[in-house]
Amino acid sequence: MRPTSYASYLRLSNLLAAQDPTTPPDDSGTWVAERFFIVCHQTTELWLSQVLLELDLAARCAAESPDWPTIKTSLMRAASIVLLLTHHLEQLIYLPRDRFLRFRPALEGISGAESEQMRELFVVGLGRHTHVRTISVGLERALARAGLPAPHALGACGHDECGAAGALEALTEGVTNWRRLHARIARYFIGGRRGTGGTAGADYLDERLAGLPDAEAAGRY
Ligand code: HEM
Ligand SMILES: [Zn+2]
Repeated sequence: MRPTSYASYLRLSNLLAAQDPTTPPDDSGTWVAERFFIVCHQTTELWLSQVLLELDLAARCAAESPDWPTIKTSLMRAASIVLLLTHHLEQLIYLPRDRFLRFRPALEGISGAESEQMRELFVVGLGRHTHVRTISVGLERALARAGLPAPHALGACGHDECGAAGALEALTEGVTNWRRLHARIARYFIGGRRGTGGTAGADYLDERLAGLPDAEAAGRY
């Protein structure tokens, strides 16, 4: 049905009614801080749904008669969203630790580790996602057809295939950067405490990162 207003087009009444802090509203400082924490997670999930759709589109375009301009644009959007999600995490600097520790007990048994979309993104970051494989195979074929042994650096030429290859690399590196920053943030907030999901907490996250490529050499974090 054709929407009749900005609010109905964006389903704003649903979107803005979906934040439900556990903190009683009369503790307004903590209530607002917890809402900030919820919005950070919700917006992450919303952007993640877009990243996964971009990858799906790019993989379909790579499998059929390859449409490299569309593949490049989709992968660039996906990579830039993952970069944005890292900035999202940085926003947590403005969540005072004492406020966080006040509402944290209510989250016992609940953890970001349950995020299905994030789990899928991690597979993308490891280069093991079927869509990443499909796109990589298409890229290899396209580069061979163009007589290129390797893609040019991002921005160094006008080939859509090279742009797509650069964006795919930025996307996978971006996921590792997100994971590294998340582990550092978790340590800042909870120190040596156990995770609400029942793991050893920050040590567990560091262990999960061991063996991943050294993102510091490639990126900001
Ligand atoms: C104050 C902020 C945060 C803290 C202290 C924190 C802490 C933790 C801890 C300790 C774990 C390990 C599992 C557990 O026992 O719970 C974890 C896992 C995870 N968290 Fe967070 N987290 C924070 C913010 C976020 C945000 C904003 C997201 C984004 C949706 C997120 C997504 C995840 C994911 C995907 C995992 C699984 C990581 C893996 O398996 O390697 N976390 N978090
Ligand atoms: Zn090129």
